[in-house]
Amino acid sequence: MSQKKRVFSGIQPSGALTLGNYLGAMKQWVALQETHDCVYCVVDLHALTVPSDPDDLKKRIFDTAALLIASGLDPDRVILIIQSHVHEHCELAWLLSCTATYGEMGRMTQFKEKSEGKESVSLGLFTYPVLMAADILLYQTDLVPVGADQKQHVEITRDIADRFNRRYGPVFTLPEPFIPEAGARIMSLDDPTKKMSKSNQNPNSYVTLLDTPAAIRKKILSAVTDSGREVRYDPENKAAVSNLLTIYSRCAGGSIEDIEGMYAGKGYADFKKDLAAVVTDTLRPVQQRFEDICASGEVARVVKDGADKAREIARVTLGAAKERIGLVI
Ligand code: TYM
Repeated sequence: MSQKKRVFSGIQPSGALTLGNYLGAMKQWVALQETHDCVYCVVDLHALTVPSDPDDLKKRIFDTAALLIASGLDPDRVILIIQSHVHEHCELAWLLSCTATYGEMGRMTQFKEKSEGKESVSLGLFTYPVLMAADILLYQTDLVPVGADQKQHVEITRDIADRFNRRYGPVFTLPEPFIPEAGARIMSLDDPTKKMSKSNQNPNSYVTLLDTPAAIRKKILSAVTDSGREVRYDPENKAAVSNLLTIYSRCAGGSIEDIEGMYAGKGYADFKKDLAAVVTDTLRPVQQRFEDICASGEVARVVKDGADKAREIARVTLGAAKERIGLVI
């Protein structure tokens, strides 16, 4: 058996993922495949918690899987799955929902944000973190690479696992969140107090991985900046420029101080023009590979193979959980 630690993470099939997804999560996913046993998942069932068009959803699921491969995941080294292909996720979610509590679900920040002001909210949106806990716990996961917004969900997963283990006996590994030091929260281009997200009504607030160079340039040149003209990292007083510096540094690889030095005495305009080029250069190879992968029909084979491998792991954990609970198996 492999001695490597297990990594699991998931991403919603929003089709064209954002630069926030890429810098906050996917870059770490790619790096971790070198050293860990990785299972990555397109969480199509989580996407059903908000209404969506069936044909559109199907395309988004495939495009998301293709983009993960295009970003550098090696299907020969990682297990890449579509959540609904491994039915054990739903089955374990039910068992865990009898261990999780109503109170703790109601305290989840993401639920509060997504349900705020809505007349009707699906039950799935409320129990979303339980399905996420099932995703993680099925694979005896040690590390969960995510952006900062998902930390609370990984913590609740730990709590649920710990409660289950104490109540019924040890079944689940307790996972740790793995959050990058820089880029854990890439902010919106039009408002640095909000997370960059594709659900934002203003498409100029986010860069997608499939944006054309012209669109990237337009979005970055129109990004809000702060008063003054100094390109300086100061999240408290210069939140917008600090966000752009983080993006620059995460894409180009240099330290923030070096980048500040490069733009000493220059204004925001020069900096933003170069940033647009840096982001375009980062995304160009991903976009080229994406086209090739879509044309090759490879995704269907990769996710089928992934599901076969994932089920081997998942059914052992599910069986152990059922047995401990006292179900007749
Ligand atoms: P999702 O699909 O919203 O985002 C996928 C990953 O991208 C990160 N991310 C960001 N990081 C930095 N800055 C941003 N602006 C930004 N936007 C998104 C997220 O933190 C996440 O890591 N609930 C999860 C999906 C999920 C999951 C799981 C994750 C389902 N089951 C099990 C880990 C383990 C979600 O909605 O991520």
